[in-house]
Amino acid sequence: MWICVLQLHVLILLVLFCCKISCILDGSSSMEQKPNYRTSYHFQPPKNWMNDPNGPLYYKGVYHIFYQYNPISPVFGKISWAHSVSRDLINWVHLERMLDPTDSYDLNGCWSGSITILPGGEPTILYTGVDFNNSQVQNLAMPKNSSDPLLREWVKSEHNPLMIPVDELESKNFRDPTTAWLGPDGIWRVIIGGDGNAVLYKSGDFIGWTRSDQPLHSAFGKTGMWECPDFFPVSVDGKNGVDTSVLDGRIKHVLKASFEGSHDDYVIGSYEGLTDKFKAESEFMDSRLQMRYDYGKFYASKSFFDSAKSRRILWAWISESDGDVGAIEKGWAGLQSIPRTILLDKSGSKLVQWPVDEIDQLRSNEVKIRDKMLKGGALIEIENITASQADVEASFKFGNLETAEDLDEKDLVDAPLLCSSRRASMRGAIGPFGLIVLASEGLEEQTTIFFHVFKNGAKYVVLMCSDQSRSSLGEGLEKATYGAFVDVDPLHEEISLRTLVDGSIVESFGGGGLTCITARVYPKLAIGKEARLYIFNNGTIDVAISRMNAWSMKPAQFHESYSSQETDMLWCQHQFGFGHGVVC
Ligand code: FRU
Repeated sequence: MWICVLQLHVLILLVLFCCKISCILDGSSSMEQKPNYRTSYHFQPPKNWMNDPNGPLYYKGVYHIFYQYNPISPVFGKISWAHSVSRDLINWVHLERMLDPTDSYDLNGCWSGSITILPGGEPTILYTGVDFNNSQVQNLAMPKNSSDPLLREWVKSEHNPLMIPVDELESKNFRDPTTAWLGPDGIWRVIIGGDGNAVLYKSGDFIGWTRSDQPLHSAFGKTGMWECPDFFPVSVDGKNGVDTSVLDGRIKHVLKASFEGSHDDYVIGSYEGLTDKFKAESEFMDSRLQMRYDYGKFYASKSFFDSAKSRRILWAWISESDGDVGAIEKGWAGLQSIPRTILLDKSGSKLVQWPVDEIDQLRSNEVKIRDKMLKGGALIEIENITASQADVEASFKFGNLETAEDLDEKDLVDAPLLCSSRRASMRGAIGPFGLIVLASEGLEEQTTIFFHVFKNGAKYVVLMCSDQSRSSLGEGLEKATYGAFVDVDPLHEEISLRTLVDGSIVESFGGGGLTCITARVYPKLAIGKEARLYIFNNGTIDVAISRMNAWSMKPAQFHESYSSQETDMLWCQHQFGFGHGVVC
């Protein structure tokens, strides 16, 4: 199958190459005029294909992100681990790749994995190798010189592979080791994604691993392969993150798995560290309770504990919506989300995510609105900021909810469907209200992020939507409508929305991060200075904006190094701030 995929990619490349030549010959420059859609403050490598974040880490004062990378093309292929470093999670220096598929146990790809810091303080990678036979096996790599805070070089273990699949069937569904944790018995545990379950392994020395009879958790028959599992503790009442091996105190455990290339779902439960019993409070694929990190594009996420600021940070791969043709035209594909802090909500039954505070350093040109009535039918342009790169926070409140439209129990099952049948352009009672981003002058292009308040029996429910159906006049794009409910009580609480706009990505956080939706869009008109931003209310009932702040977002700095000396220089400049006159 990969051979066919490869042939298809070669064919697409050939067609695009011929098209480029014909453009040159006939004097047209349509290819050159196309917007590139690169973002300016989201993490992206300079070119080519990127997917999952791997082994994020804070080490000796430096944040590291490793990621799945195809060094030769903007489509998925033979995957290496690439590596970038940062002082603040926002500005980055891209370093040399540090794991390439060169050995029999990873010849067909160095796939996803995680980092564990061993007791001496040494970071250690466990990753999946796709071996010479196309079987998935688990391997280990250590830094060549762990006194280098940039961890530039890594050495694969002579003991590889450390874990091998049990049979032919498993050899294609056995991957993505988590960060390991140390049990109260001094034994390491790690989980590996399997078919419908999380396979548990234990080790005394991190080299010899034994498979446990029982998986850590399973949902056989309900799900397919569990890609990129993550398993970590969260504090029940604290605002701090918890390190992965912490097993006591007021904590619960989160188990996340990535399904079908499209969604990262989680369950919360209690974990007993000696017996490895994990009791989940809900189940994967339970449609009513379906708990997702993000209801849009957000996949293969991975968290890590940031000891510098006692927080747990989550990264995820945001894929494209313009297919392989778009990737080849652009020369790149894939971004990482803005890193998010992740905590248990006060209800104890859901997680909340929020962009790391460091992102605020990019804000400029603040525009504010305070206590303003947004009349039914109102459309207000937010001017004087760069609408194509913006951060907007708004809170809405209501006088009377009596007139909210009724919603049946059956409508509660499919929020995206509800969003497509009640779009922003359709008049409701309390909503739709929210933001229109990346809009063209005549609103031919627009991406809408909005809320709609409904009555369901004696309760009120809040629907949040991100509608990309009119996001671009371009063709051949996926223009999905995403939706989910937000667990807030509009009778007693305001409804808040934060949206980060960055060229071709729109990341939205509803209810203070209880419901997150990320979308990719490729407008043809609403690009750069042509993009506009609005706040609107298309309900018949007035809604009050209690507070709105919007900022232009300055670009983050990304630098690429080619040699070790250059890396030293770039890193020095990065630490002191580029262009601040320090001689490095
Ligand atoms: C998830 C995934 C992982 C795998 C990696 C390969 O996106 O399929 O399961 O390890 O990507 O790049």
